Amino acid sequence: MTGSADAAAHGTADAGSAPGRRVAVVSGGSRGLGALLVERLLADGWAVATFSRSANAFVEKTREAAPDSFLWEPVDLADLDALRRFVGTCTQRFGGIDLLVNNAATLDGLGLFLTARADRIAAGITANLTGPIVLTQACARVMSRGSRGQIVTISSINAIRGYRGVAVYAAAKAGLDGITRSLARELGPLNIRVNSVVPGFFDSELTTDVTDTNRVRIRGRTPLGRVASADEIADAVSFLVSPHASFITGQSIVVDGGITC
Ligand SMILES: NC(=O)c1ccc[n+]([C@@H]2O[C@H](COP(=O)([O-])OP(=O)(O)OC[C@H]3O[C@@H](n4cnc5c(N)ncnc54)[C@H](OP(=O)(O)O)[C@@H]3O)[C@@H](O)[C@H]2O)c1
Repeated sequence: MTGSADAAAHGTADAGSAPGRRVAVVSGGSRGLGALLVERLLADGWAVATFSRSANAFVEKTREAAPDSFLWEPVDLADLDALRRFVGTCTQRFGGIDLLVNNAATLDGLGLFLTARADRIAAGITANLTGPIVLTQACARVMSRGSRGQIVTISSINAIRGYRGVAVYAAAKAGLDGITRSLARELGPLNIRVNSVVPGFFDSELTTDVTDTNRVRIRGRTPLGRVASADEIADAVSFLVSPHASFITGQSIVVDGGITC
């Protein structure tokens, strides 16, 4: 999507930028669903810029394997200026942005509501809502120059059903679904599609604290009788990003084996 014409319009493509290469920003691409999306996008020929708070073996391996197509930087979602700088670095390096996947999120320090400290509530909202909003704005500004782009936000079924112990996280995810619909209206005329994917439970570092008893309960309440693989969530993102979804915007696609139906 971002072709040499776009790169020229941005005036920022570096010498190594391949003409016609599409550019994706994926937040939290160091592990879990984000790492899977990074791998898929690179395999499909995209240039991918991602960040997380810390690097790991996946980041190092991918940097080595795809030095011209992969950018990783240490950025915390709570550092709003750093998010804007990251988008600037990505634009300068790759010449534009065609896709943002708002994937990173955290459950750090978010527990039962009655005992939650005010500073932890504020930090949870900053990381899970304000950060993604600021990242979205910075990327959408770049996309608007090329009059095309896509934004896919990873929400959660916590946004649409009540679960104990995740009130602040749920509030942030519901906010992201809200901004998805609003932005679809505001950015649609600029040919920018905005959607969210709403996963049920899948295994990752985010869910390591879920006890075996609760896993059995989740499976029992799920019509399909099992939990998702991260691949099945990534499939929904891949669909939204593909031409098969070219007339879909403002939607939240639930991928939960039917647990919320
Ligand atoms: N797993 C599930 O069952 C489930 C269910 C519904 C929705 N989701 C959603 O799916 C998405 C991916 O989740 P996952 O399970 O793949 O999570 P994960 O394995 O914990 O990975 C999260 C990624 O985000 C990064 N990250 C976390 N906090 C960050 C921060 N403050 N600043 C920058 N980067 C940060 C992490 O790296 P660092 O820690 O190094 O920063 C990591 O790369 C999230 O939006 C999550 O809410 C997950």
